[in-house]
Amino acid sequence: MAIRKITEYPETVLGQVGKPVTEFDDALAELCADMYDTMYDAEGVGLAAPQIGLNLRLFVMDCDGVKLIAANPEIADTEGEQSGSEACLSVGKVPAVVARAMKVKLKAQDLKGDWFEHEAEGYAARCFLHETDHCDGKLFIDHLPKMRRDMVVKRFKKEKNWK
Ligand code: NI
Repeated sequence: MAIRKITEYPETVLGQVGKPVTEFDDALAELCADMYDTMYDAEGVGLAAPQIGLNLRLFVMDCDGVKLIAANPEIADTEGEQSGSEACLSVGKVPAVVARAMKVKLKAQDLKGDWFEHEAEGYAARCFLHETDHCDGKLFIDHLPKMRRDMVVKRFKKEKNWK
């Protein structure tokens, strides 16, 4: 187990559509263990493979009581709407309000390659959408109007320079 380096905006891999996970072996389990280590170290609630530089459809999460590993995630169903603050480890945790579905049904494969479905509401549903977006090369700021997106990026760059 190891903590990996987190890729940050605007690194190319964060904008790429991930390749499907095809090998459900020990290496995948080790990779997910590293992703959990990296996520907890950064005090995040979710982490997708592109965030450690891998162009792969895979994420781990531990958010609002929902802890799971999702390979080849798909959003099977959504319902309702919520509006709330969201942030990303790849954008320096600078928050912005994003509109998302309130209820989300996630379909994905586990470490053995077995398909499962998991339904969540609220914060965990938001996490499903945020992390699945990462697998599609999309960041939460892509959901923002240009002016607000620019503000988040500006603040992120500014804070990065202070470090
Ligand atoms: Ni993120």
